[in-house]
Amino acid sequence: MKTIFSGIQPSGSLTIGNYLGAMQQFVTLQEDNNCFFCIVDEHAITVPQDRLKLRENIRSLAALYLACGIDPDKSTLFIQSEVSAHTQLGWMMQSISYIGELERMTQFKDKSHGKDAVSAGLLTYPPLMAADILLYKTDIVPVGDDQKQHLELTRDLAQRFNNRYNDIFTIPEISLPKFSARIMSLQDPTKKMSKSDDNLKASIFMLDSEKQIEKKIKSAVTDSEGVVKYDKENKPGISNLLTIYASCTGETIEAIEKKYEGKGYGEFKQDTAHAVLSLLKPIHARYDELIDSPELDEILDKGAEKASFVANKMLAKAKKAMGLGRVKK
Ligand code: TYM
Repeated sequence: MKTIFSGIQPSGSLTIGNYLGAMQQFVTLQEDNNCFFCIVDEHAITVPQDRLKLRENIRSLAALYLACGIDPDKSTLFIQSEVSAHTQLGWMMQSISYIGELERMTQFKDKSHGKDAVSAGLLTYPPLMAADILLYKTDIVPVGDDQKQHLELTRDLAQRFNNRYNDIFTIPEISLPKFSARIMSLQDPTKKMSKSDDNLKASIFMLDSEKQIEKKIKSAVTDSEGVVKYDKENKPGISNLLTIYASCTGETIEAIEKKYEGKGYGEFKQDTAHAVLSLLKPIHARYDELIDSPELDEILDKGAEKASFVANKMLAKAKKAMGLGRVKK
């Protein structure tokens, strides 16, 4: 049995990119692994957040995790800020990180580009992410493609710590989904679909209504060729829709291409919307049951307790290895 850890920021409404890139893997992996899934609210505050909205988003993300199929009897679901070992090990990880390597992170460059006021937290975001992962002796981290660089840094930091102090950290492996590691924007299919895109038509949110989803997919940018064929270079829009269709239904891209031979984009788009809706409808129903339920709080309380128990043991080891605390007589 392997240990799995992953996290999602409650920094806005979840998109189907988050689901198909990350959460879908979580649901499968929980069947025969020891899984920890986290709502990383401390990462979310590295950019300005409205405090009331943030608290709502945290609860909403917890409900979505469960609605998507995370089973609290199989997985530990918790909020990062409720397990203080994360920031403590995060500080230690910052102390062995170099400013140069943090400045080279593309996510830091993207998020800080053109801004006058960039928080220090945005720069030191990856060492906190490393702490998240390393606290649980994580073997595998299921994520989308955009987290690859952060995972490589996590591996470097773990190795650096092990070499410099004591060999205590497991070096984690990344797990990417087969097809959907990078779901693209519906309006600019050369760009990643993102929670924080200002153009709301660019992203399908997990909690979008039927009408919104149909409208967004209908107006998704494609090309004028009229052939449903996967070709990322020349047909990024259609390729993205094919990826979404395939990941929602489990059908292969080839089978879908065949189905739409000689047919136009209209029918293909309609059926893609249908595929997304079939996936989301049961999730919406379960979400509505959970969002105001005290059951959600019980699950999160238990999750924080279990995560703290595991994390505190590793934190104690790491402190001792680094020489923190006093010699006891
Ligand atoms: P976040 O919140 O941006 O995204 C959550 C997960 O969704 C994936 N993802 C996508 N996958 C495919 N296509 C897309 N368009 C797409 N957009 C997002 C992300 O790759 C991610 O897996 N730094 C992380 C949160 C984090 C974390 C961790 C992850 C903090 N600590 C420890 C793993 C382990 C982040 O910002 O994810």
